[in-house]
Amino acid sequence: MSGKDLISGNVSYDGGRLTFAGMDVGKIADEYGTPAYLYDENRIVDNCRMYKRAMKESFGEGSLPAYAGKAAAFGYMYKIMSREGMAADLVSIGELYTASAAGFDMKNAYFHGNAKTDEEISEALRLGVGCFVVDNPDELSVLDDMARKRGINQKILLRITPGIDPHTYEAVSTGKVDSKFGVPIATGQAAEFVKSALAAPNLTLIGYHCHVGSLVFDTESSVYTDAARIMLDFSRDMRELVGYAPEYISLGGGYGVRYVNSDPQVDIPKNIERLAEFMKCHSAEIGLPMPKVITEPGRSIVADAGMTVYTVGSVKNVKGYKTYVAVDGGMTDNPRYALYRSSYTVVPAIESDEKMICDVVGKCCESGDIIQPGVSLPASTRRGDRIAVLTTGAYNYSMASNYNRIPRPPVVMIKDGETTLAVRRETPADVAALDLMI
Ligand code: LLP
Repeated sequence: MSGKDLISGNVSYDGGRLTFAGMDVGKIADEYGTPAYLYDENRIVDNCRMYKRAMKESFGEGSLPAYAGKAAAFGYMYKIMSREGMAADLVSIGELYTASAAGFDMKNAYFHGNAKTDEEISEALRLGVGCFVVDNPDELSVLDDMARKRGINQKILLRITPGIDPHTYEAVSTGKVDSKFGVPIATGQAAEFVKSALAAPNLTLIGYHCHVGSLVFDTESSVYTDAARIMLDFSRDMRELVGYAPEYISLGGGYGVRYVNSDPQVDIPKNIERLAEFMKCHSAEIGLPMPKVITEPGRSIVADAGMTVYTVGSVKNVKGYKTYVAVDGGMTDNPRYALYRSSYTVVPAIESDEKMICDVVGKCCESGDIIQPGVSLPASTRRGDRIAVLTTGAYNYSMASNYNRIPRPPVVMIKDGETTLAVRRETPADVAALDLMI
């Protein structure tokens, strides 16, 4: 296996030893223990810059990418986003807290959520969040009231459901008419939602938001152009109906990344360029001033910047059936196969030619705790060896749990030949820290 076979260009073998972002993975594992999440900081920065440049070049000044923190939210990450001048999409009181504690400028935050609590709304207002993405009429009236009590006027986007099926997997598809997110155009409810927003004295409507789904391999650019067409047509209809044209349209996040070699490579700048051409052309056709555009990439900023390294705990051959390679982590640090049957590329820390096919499984008390079935690993693999799962930078750390009271792994950042601990490993005492009867 050579460097070019390994998905993302920042993973390779050097003298038979696995390297990530130019560093020896086995050595990092020796220093920090396993399991551990490793992040290639320069890759995160490159991905942010790629989006910023593409948005500016294609859409012009004022259009911007907002990092979707749900993909990986911890203090160090928000510091990178601040330095790179990224906006951020935040979805909970925990994400608000983390970003603000890391010094992220809340003016650049978009606060999402379909069931924001009073506490979250109040905290977001206190922190001076730049814009609320209002999901539903209940939230609209509570927010208007809370803004009035604080004596402020809050900028908002309205989350609109365009009625699109992006043909990704069900759990991450969010733009269909009957989605739990947003207010649908098709039923006429979105038009009412806009009228209510315009009538709210303490809120300023700056535009519309939609998000059709995650892991969209939009190689022909059709999902986003379809969404954009629907949002622009809706904007035209609303301008005719109530005289309001949006300053911004946010098209949400969602470009897919390559987890395995057979996944397509999305040319993101090219997609953004095609989308911008379409939107400018369509706006002109329907006589609508071209709005500024926001995108909310999460996965495509951090996924290929991440890797998880494990130590093998046991190798078990069930004669005539299969071989299990069990590691010191599992669905607690990567629930994505268990939840979505997601594909991953799994590689050994030390290269070898003689291979076996095995299922890489975790240590949790559940048969569904599988990291990846049908993996090719060295036939010599045994307890104590290290293996790595690639492209784990998105929705692994952020979806980790303490099932079985397993402490969560640390996050180690790699940059220019140096490592920095961004999140320390949880201890058993951390896991029990909230128990009052201990
Ligand atoms: N904006 C909104 C409103 C979203 O709901 C999401 C993702 C994003 C942006 C970012 O999408 P991305 O660029 O990361 O695709 N846990 C699932 C993914 C759930 C995505 C939820 N929303 C997974 O592990 O695949």
